[in-house]
Amino acid sequence: MNLHIRNARLLTLAGSRGPRRGAALRELAVMPKGEVLIVDGKISAVGRRLHAPLDADVIDARGQVLMPGFVDGHTHACSAGDRLHEWEQKLSGVPYLEILKQGGGIHSTVKAVRAATEMKLTENLVERLSMMQGAGTTTVEVKSGYGLNKATELKMLRAIRHAAQTWVGTVVPTALLGHAVEGDGETFVQTTIEEVLPAVTAAFPGVAVDAFCEDGAWSMESCVRLFERAQEAGHPVRMHSDQFNSLGMIPEAIRLGAVSVDHLEAATDDDLGLLANSSTMGVILPCTGFHTDGRYARARQFVEAGGAVALATNCNPGSAPCYAMPFAIALAVRHGGLTPAEAIVACTVNAAGLLGLHDRGTIEVGQRADLALLVHRDERALAHEVGGNPVEWVICGGLLTQS
Ligand code: NIG
Repeated sequence: MNLHIRNARLLTLAGSRGPRRGAALRELAVMPKGEVLIVDGKISAVGRRLHAPLDADVIDARGQVLMPGFVDGHTHACSAGDRLHEWEQKLSGVPYLEILKQGGGIHSTVKAVRAATEMKLTENLVERLSMMQGAGTTTVEVKSGYGLNKATELKMLRAIRHAAQTWVGTVVPTALLGHAVEGDGETFVQTTIEEVLPAVTAAFPGVAVDAFCEDGAWSMESCVRLFERAQEAGHPVRMHSDQFNSLGMIPEAIRLGAVSVDHLEAATDDDLGLLANSSTMGVILPCTGFHTDGRYARARQFVEAGGAVALATNCNPGSAPCYAMPFAIALAVRHGGLTPAEAIVACTVNAAGLLGLHDRGTIEVGQRADLALLVHRDERALAHEVGGNPVEWVICGGLLTQS
């Protein structure tokens, strides 16, 4: 299908592909009354008064905002069961880490994922991916991490790969091998490093490896051991860190050259400054603060210090039951202090850079045709309005779908 979209307020985000910082983070490169030509799933022209092939379907965007599809760079969207019973516990005041300590939280979802078939996990994920797509997302990172053993981690990663083959958008898998600890901590860490990691390397070479550095989850020393072995085996590393407690992991993540440190709600001023001046990205997940405990990463401070920020939903059944990037944007602006433009850059071109995908996140010639048309004529409304779906339609790899 060839498409010629006319009369759009285009957020081209034209410019550098790598993660952007500082003033570049605010640059949407807007083209009013812009046109885009899509041929064979790619953007073949951007501008005004374009000459379209005769067979191209013409769409009048009526002045509405056309932007790159969202890249959701941190999710736990592959899961089973729900945590509604624990949510009631949480509403009555029991903290997230206390529920985890009592064998619930991540462990509840581990039980459900172990009991689910690979096909059921795939179906659940495809369903969630299509909900994300309806809200404008065209690329999603999906973590394993609810296995906590070799067989189930591999089952999750295979389910993620199957869902990726089914869905029209792009799925980037991550092996979250250090999400929690079962039984004796040292034995668990040792088994993960000696048995689970090599099996993942064999079946999913080069996949990013992740861990959760937190009291009651993985210690800093264990994370470093896992990451050093993962890097030796050719895996990039990412981390969940400083969500509830600052355990000193940020300087270590920088030293290791981690791709990103995600969460940052409890990061110290010094660590935020160090991260901002490193090549490791900071990923903020404000749906977690909204759902879990009202704490948010100080994104404004991080950006002012020169940090490269990405924004994601953290879609998961426990701490952030949210699949919609527009809601994450609304929260990042209200509670993280990002401007609407910065929040948009953080979940398009910067999130694409986070995932190492440089063929998306901007509307430029040669880029993959992943686009979202908003109902709005001013992109600031994306952050301003909440509670509805601001996305009218989505183009994913050149295919048009209505929301
Ligand atoms: O990023 N903090 C660790 N992992 C997820 C939560 C996963 C869960 O609670 O199931 C997070 O918030």
